[in-house]
Amino acid sequence: MSRITTVAQLEAIIGRPPAMVMMKELAELDDAGRRMLAIAPLAGFGYRDDEGRPRTTVVGGKPGFAEVESPARIAFATDVDASGPVSFVFLLPGVGETLRVNGSVAERSPGRIVVAVSQVYIHCARAILRSRLWDPVVPAAPVPAVADGPLSAPGVAGFLAATPFLIVSSWDRDGGSDTSPRGDVPGFVRVIDGHTLVIPDRRGNKRADTSRNLLADDRISVAMLVPGRTDVLHVSGTAVITDDASLLADMAQGAAVPQAALIITVERAELRRNQAVAAANVWDRGNRVDAATLAELMALTTRQLGVKKPALRRLSGALAVFSRLIRRVMDATYRRALEKEGYGLATGTRLGRPVRVIDVIRETPDAVTLVLSGADTGFAPGQFYTLIMDIEGRTFRRAYSATSVPGTDRLALTVKRDGLCSTYLNDHARVGTEMRVLGPSGDFRVADPAAAGAEYVLIGAGSGITPLMSIIRTVLAASPDATITLIYGNRTEADIIFAGELTALRDAHPGRLTVHHVLSRPGPGWTGRTGRIGPDHLIYLERAHYYICGPATMPAAVREALTGLGVSSDRLHEERFTSVPAADPEAADSEQAVRTMTVDNVGEVVVGAGQTMLDAGLAAGVPMPYSCTVGSCGECRVRLLRGEVRGIVEDGGVLTCVSYPLTDTAVAITPAEPGD
Ligand code: FES
Repeated sequence: MSRITTVAQLEAIIGRPPAMVMMKELAELDDAGRRMLAIAPLAGFGYRDDEGRPRTTVVGGKPGFAEVESPARIAFATDVDASGPVSFVFLLPGVGETLRVNGSVAERSPGRIVVAVSQVYIHCARAILRSRLWDPVVPAAPVPAVADGPLSAPGVAGFLAATPFLIVSSWDRDGGSDTSPRGDVPGFVRVIDGHTLVIPDRRGNKRADTSRNLLADDRISVAMLVPGRTDVLHVSGTAVITDDASLLADMAQGAAVPQAALIITVERAELRRNQAVAAANVWDRGNRVDAATLAELMALTTRQLGVKKPALRRLSGALAVFSRLIRRVMDATYRRALEKEGYGLATGTRLGRPVRVIDVIRETPDAVTLVLSGADTGFAPGQFYTLIMDIEGRTFRRAYSATSVPGTDRLALTVKRDGLCSTYLNDHARVGTEMRVLGPSGDFRVADPAAAGAEYVLIGAGSGITPLMSIIRTVLAASPDATITLIYGNRTEADIIFAGELTALRDAHPGRLTVHHVLSRPGPGWTGRTGRIGPDHLIYLERAHYYICGPATMPAAVREALTGLGVSSDRLHEERFTSVPAADPEAADSEQAVRTMTVDNVGEVVVGAGQTMLDAGLAAGVPMPYSCTVGSCGECRVRLLRGEVRGIVEDGGVLTCVSYPLTDTAVAITPAEPGD
């Protein structure tokens, strides 16, 4: 291993900071700095406690928590026992740049600290962009098994696997403090053993303050965040710098190999709730810096950031209204720089496979078929896919059955309007809409649709036709002579999805497809069957396999009726659709408030208004179990330890995919078995 011990060795690897970077440094707060403090609700804070131990934590709780007493003095409320040199990195929700402030404690009284400022500068957006801190749809890395040592404490390894962002504090030869941000994909902090962590050091602005400081004083402290969570992992110990080639190659992100790495010998690792993070609620997109403030800020900060293009500088000085354009140009510049160095920012590791809507077919006023390109179409007819979509800044997952024939270059999912996501897709999905998809999944399937001589009875209600339609299309095309009887229930004739195509398929395959429509609210001219599907509508065929799909209790009732007719259980296949209820906009405040969900042995997660417990947990990198996401499979069942929820709660377990917290809650991922 090659340990770096001198500044010359360090600069041989990372280079020297360009003059432009050092010019961005100020001795006190200017207009841009004051404005950033006025809107920053949180800061990473590096200090030494009364016993001289290095500490990093997160302070704040609301925008403007740091009061500017003068350009050279700021004050804030805190209970930490800081003294001597301190340093901050101020975070602005939704913004890439951070404000770094160094100084020393000038006054300390109970609950309040005043800091004399000595150094101020704006840190570039690379750490935030790499981490996707404000855009966190990235799965956690696998959680390593950690034996003895501070890193084996409950929840620590899981948090390390999920964190994309950390704040690191170090001290220079004269005792001066520096706190800076690091960001990357979850899993970038490697756990070597219960006492040792490795953090890659990727290309930055060449200031390398942390590394330079560590050459003089090897003490280090770190605070780590996971988007969506209100707890913070605090780590402290000592660190060395290495450029060991095999270690760095092992931490390559795409083609980007880190320049160096910090190897931390951990003396203390503590995961605890952070009141500032909880109070600031920065994970709620409603608390992001708004466009008008961002425009004003950009006009101020562009000067300090030293934008090189003269035209852009003139533009920034002209009118703040152009600042959104500047923002986009600057973000694009950062992204290009990251991609140029081989960092896979654009392709990232977002959960699911990217798909694109290439056709939208209106089936009924309340049902639409989305034709997607890019999906894995190797499904068995009857299976479903999970669509991952971002709606108004939140990520949702919903399962929809494939209605097309497998093995083609396009996947059709038919979506009936009955909840937030299905309504969104019905109203807003367009050709070109991009989403992500997981799957195929599910045990409701016809294993061999090409089987000769097979008989099928398909029984569906409402959107329950969707997997059955794939079975019909596939079996009629693949088998030479299989026969199908479809019994399909709806309220009215207008609600029948695929009505025209079912008739066409019946006529095109004489004797192979029989269709019986059953309407519960038939119009005056209806001559077909009426009522809800029940024993009178069912048929008994000795060799047939029965596939039942419908909402709520329908499949179980039909199964019972078929069992009564003598159909054996090995010929019964059942899928239940449970629509995910949207958060009720008319509901009391208790249903619309932001809640916390404490996950036993993991940590605390913020559940936004209208967010299911599953969506919130997954967004925070918690390894929540799930499969169907529509309350059907039971995979997402967790044990409810405390609190009240609206959704499906039974036998001490809650189906998180269809449940919303009414109060702060606590759950355990170890599932509650029915009957517990
Ligand atoms: S994920 Fe299937 S019931 Fe919740």
